[in-house]
Amino acid sequence: MSNDGARRHLVLVGLMGAGKTTVGAACATRLARPFVDTDDVVEANTGMTVAELFAHEGEARFRELERQAVVDACATPAPAVIACGGGAVVDADNRRRLHRAGFVVWLQGAPATLMAGRPLLEGRGTATLERLAVVRAAAYEATADALVDTDGRTVHEVVDAVLEVYGQ
Ligand code: S3P
Repeated sequence: MSNDGARRHLVLVGLMGAGKTTVGAACATRLARPFVDTDDVVEANTGMTVAELFAHEGEARFRELERQAVVDACATPAPAVIACGGGAVVDADNRRRLHRAGFVVWLQGAPATLMAGRPLLEGRGTATLERLAVVRAAAYEATADALVDTDGRTVHEVVDAVLEVYGQ
């Protein structure tokens, strides 16, 4: 498909630990584009970390701020690479907006793989991620144009796979 015109951004979605930020930043470098991470936008707009927001203002407030961050990211004038927080696609407005604004790639890995890079999740079992993987699968699928499997691949290989499905 064409990735010009209205759907000009490259958007990465997927569970926490899937590598959206690392892979997105590397894709942005390769494409010589700005990189926008919705969690970073929320943190910059509030002066609080995502963890602080969850703790002090609650998840509902975080999701409101995240929705605004998705609006802002999609409105980036230059074609960008956008990494979304893992839960952004749960919101139907976000799903529609991201799908309209970009070519959406779902980075998918097994929960055990996702945990490996996350010291905060390690030791807590894969139950949370396994549950989220099931609950969110339909939302990721509905948003995504393509799926890239991250299991057993280096960051470099995942970046190559993303750019290949993106047609770059
Ligand atoms: C979340 C994922 C996080 C962050 C927040 C909630 C989720 O982003 O937005 O902690 O609900 O899956 P990453 O996917 O970048 O870790």
